[in-house]
Amino acid sequence: MPQPAPEPEGRAANGPRAPEAAFDPRARALIRSFSEAVKILNTSLSLESVLRDLARLGRSVLSARYGAVGVLGPEGDIARFVTSGLSEDEIKAIGQAPQGHGLLGAVIADGRPLRSANIAGDPRAVGFPPNHPPMTSFLGVPIRRGTRVLGNLYVTDKTTGDGFDAVDEWVATVLADHAALAIERATLSAARDAFLSVAAHELRSPVGALRLAIESASEQAAESDTPAAIRELLREVERGVDELSLEVDDLLDASRLDRGALRVQRSTVDLRQVCQAAVDRMRWALATDRVIAKLPSEPIWGRWDRRRLERAVANLLENALRYSPADTPVWIVARSAEARATIQVRDSGPGIDAADQDRIWQPFVRGSQSHGTQRGAGLGLYIVREIVSAHGGSITLDSQTTVGTTISVTLPLRPSGAIDA
Ligand SMILES: Nc1ncnc2c1ncn2[C@@H]1O[C@H](COP(=O)(O)OP(=O)(O)OP(=O)(O)O)[C@@H](O)[C@H]1O
Ligand SMILES: [Mg+2]
Repeated sequence: MPQPAPEPEGRAANGPRAPEAAFDPRARALIRSFSEAVKILNTSLSLESVLRDLARLGRSVLSARYGAVGVLGPEGDIARFVTSGLSEDEIKAIGQAPQGHGLLGAVIADGRPLRSANIAGDPRAVGFPPNHPPMTSFLGVPIRRGTRVLGNLYVTDKTTGDGFDAVDEWVATVLADHAALAIERATLSAARDAFLSVAAHELRSPVGALRLAIESASEQAAESDTPAAIRELLREVERGVDELSLEVDDLLDASRLDRGALRVQRSTVDLRQVCQAAVDRMRWALATDRVIAKLPSEPIWGRWDRRRLERAVANLLENALRYSPADTPVWIVARSAEARATIQVRDSGPGIDAADQDRIWQPFVRGSQSHGTQRGAGLGLYIVREIVSAHGGSITLDSQTTVGTTISVTLPLRPSGAIDA
């Protein structure tokens, strides 16, 4: 029998594998810590965490006792300085953050990597402030994006060998390139969040005012002999404004979530009513009768945030309706057992690519199949998951390309620690 061909050197079935034996121990350790560092930088979400991670990773990848990142202000000054390796007490004792003189300033002025075997003996150094721990070897590299220098990465006190060498300089430069991308991404994401929260706040008042005005117009129309057609129109406008205000709430929650500030407002709620309200909303918003609701005859009482849960369920229904063929039904089933309630939303659509199943819970991430087909911001599932976890619940996804998608939400009937009255 023919034997399978041997694996080509350096390549595994599931991706490239470095032929480790080919490298000396230093290179091997470096490759490992460097790829770990890049992974961490790629997943740092906020500017703050990118800067902290970079200072820490610079130290570990380059075997340095201390690491720091200086972010440049508009005048080329050091606007922010983040350190790693110094204790809180040491930072306090040093006092003022560096202003960008001496060696730090030399890296800023040159815009090029700078190495020094001994800071104290270097003519470009200006000396340490009182209470600064002694430092000897030094390496500083700019963090560049194109021609722009965003800041600098500094490491001091190489713990192995005789100070930083050309390899360290090269590694620090490549690490700084990755950090530049991460900084740019985090900055854009902060700008986007700020925009979201401003937009949502600005929209909330006029939409609220519109809602009140429409409600009062509808009440007056109901009491007077306003023609039925006008009353029906007013009802339509009322629903549209309701829909708009729920969308604005979604935006507002999305912008709050990044700051970890979602607080549920609990009251005693029948989950069947939450589901029915979401179904009615979808029937109206998407003009469809495709949803089949299987709700129990007995109420499912729980302590939940009615409006937020309704939005969560509506988001799941909206996805199921939008991403499955128009002639197929969508099911929503609610039940309770022991101290938990479960809501399941199921469709028999095309399913979600296995590669997308972990990603789509992130804000602004859409499935690879959805681009260019349906409009959407990629916020729905992110908000659903956050609302569910703010209630102490959990969510699972079961999606197969030939069967469809089922999303199950499980909620405790009462917040943990609550005692029956
Ligand atoms: N029931 C489903 N069937 C197939 N794909 C789905 C389903 N639900 C979600 N998805 C995929 O998950 C992605 C993320 O969904 P999510 O609700 O977070 O964002 P969106 O629907 O794209 O936009 P938004 O909800 O903000 O309007 C969708 O773009 C889609 O690719
Ligand atoms: Mg959606």
